[in-house]
Amino acid sequence: MKYSKNLFLLSSLFALSTGAWAEEEKILVAYFSWSSSHNTRTMAEYIAEETGGKLFEIKPAVPYTTSYNQVLDVARKELAEKARPALAENISQEEMASYDTVFVGYPVWWYDAPMIIYSFLESHDFAGKKIIPFATSGGSGLNEEEKFRSLTGTEVAEGLCIRNIRSSNARKQIQDWLSGVFK
Ligand SMILES: Cc1cc2nc3c(=O)[nH]c(=O)nc-3n(C[C@H](O)[C@H](O)[C@H](O)COP(=O)(O)O)c2cc1C
Repeated sequence: MKYSKNLFLLSSLFALSTGAWAEEEKILVAYFSWSSSHNTRTMAEYIAEETGGKLFEIKPAVPYTTSYNQVLDVARKELAEKARPALAENISQEEMASYDTVFVGYPVWWYDAPMIIYSFLESHDFAGKKIIPFATSGGSGLNEEEKFRSLTGTEVAEGLCIRNIRSSNARKQIQDWLSGVFK
């Protein structure tokens, strides 16, 4: 009897902690993901589940090739040219105005964020909002905070980059990082 009561209390605590941040903040989880493994999408889904945030997939108006070798060249060229690929669709200004916190996720492409992330950041007014970057990669880290800060003029939290989003401790890594970010 005592055991099941404790179990009930414990599960209520967990229920409270999941998505609890969304009660105080309105959260958007915007992400771009290219590969068929959808690593960044998986990370975005975890973050949305943990925070109660709304998911928004950033998609290019002209889809990228599905060939890995070709997209490497396309991405390198876009980076060199500081390209700003158009988005297939965007969050409206009214909707964006309603968010306090915007997670921005991407796969690391050539040690940077894909250029479409800069298209997204330049297309909105982030004044008064907090941007929280996150990424997946083959091993490189996430180093875009300062660039995002100077581009948007707003607060940018320290991001999290995960190499293997399907590893057993990925969810725990995300939870630990989120508790630091929302402290
Ligand atoms: C064009 C391109 C460039 C990449 N550049 C890097 C890189 O600089 N460093 C790295 O660690 N991984 C790099 N990767 C690997 C991706 O960041 C990694 O596979 C990521 O998890 C893919 O996420 P996605 O499934 O959401 O597309 C690159 C992949 C592509 C396609």
